[in-house]
Order: sequence, then structure tokens, then C-alpha cells
Amino acid sequence: MVKAWYMDDSNEDQRLPHQRPGSDVTLDQLRDIGVEYFNINPENYEENKELQKLREERKYTYMDKIECSPEKLPNYEEKIKAFFQEHLHDDEEIRYCLDGSGYFDVRDKNDEWIRIFLEAGDLIVLPAGIYHRFTLDTKNHIVAVRLFVGDPVWTPHNRPQEDMDIRKKYVAKYITAA
Ligand code: LAC
Ligand code: NI
Repeated sequence: MVKAWYMDDSNEDQRLPHQRPGSDVTLDQLRDIGVEYFNINPENYEENKELQKLREERKYTYMDKIECSPEKLPNYEEKIKAFFQEHLHDDEEIRYCLDGSGYFDVRDKNDEWIRIFLEAGDLIVLPAGIYHRFTLDTKNHIVAVRLFVGDPVWTPHNRPQEDMDIRKKYVAKYITAA
């Protein structure tokens, strides 16, 4: 099961959990802001029927694998900094953790940070237009599969982007809608 919580206000290391006590966030709460979650066995994931079905239904034709750690990721410090800049994308961001772990932070309807812990078997889909960021935890290691509809575009648009169509769409669908 996915673990998520509201973040505290401390300025300590971004890799720490930053869990506000007693603030667990449920799957329903994530769904309310358009974030979806699936649990898929990472063993032989390429043959996994659930993953295949998800890819077919959602036309996730593209799939690759990325390893983030100081040893494996080129320009590690720079990338880690960029990942943690609050941003949005024109498309969904789909990440499936095979090994290691990390945190995806997403903004809720009141603009507060929800931290989602991703570990082996967790697959999350962040909707297009949601403000988010990513950090490794103190283990400094994650292996994640990236999925995409067609040719991947990973361009981050750093906040603020209130004039972008995709942002307006997201706000209309998940924030201002009753
Ligand atoms: C990305 C994550 C870090 O855009 O949000 O790759
Ligand atoms: Ni992103």
C-alpha cells in the first residue's frame, strides 16, 4: 500500500521524511487531486499482465528505466536539484519503482505539500498540470521505470505557470470543481 502524508514545515534535509504527525493521506485523497496509484510486482515486470494491461489501456507505448544514485546518474547534484524544483508537465508523469525508494511531493487543493513515499512495486501517475517535485530519501538510491504515451517529453515547467493551458485545465478539473 502506498504511504503518503502531509509535510512538516522544517527546513531540514529534503531527504528526511518530513512527516507531520498524524497526517496520513489516503488513496482517496490522492485520487481527489488526480493522483493514481497501482501496486505491481517488480519481479519480471516486463512480463507482468497487470502492467501490460495498464500500458494497453492508457497507450503507454514508451518505457525506460532510470537509476538515480550519486554513482549512476550523470550530473547527479544538478539533476537532484532540478527534480526538487516545484514544476509541472504538459503530460502525465508515470513512475514505477523497481528498487530503492524516493519521495514525490504533490500540492493538494489548499496548496499544501503531500509527500508520497515510493518503494519497490509502487507505480504512481501524476496528472498533467499538477505541481510536484521529487527527491531521493537518505538511502540515495532508486531504480524507476518511466512510462509515456508516445515519444517522451520530460520538460519541467517551474512554478508559477498559471497561464499555461494544461495548468488551467488541471485547476478547473481538480481544484475549482466542486
Ligand atoms: C520529473 C520528476 C522528478 O519530472 O518530477 O522527472
Ligand atoms: Ni516532474
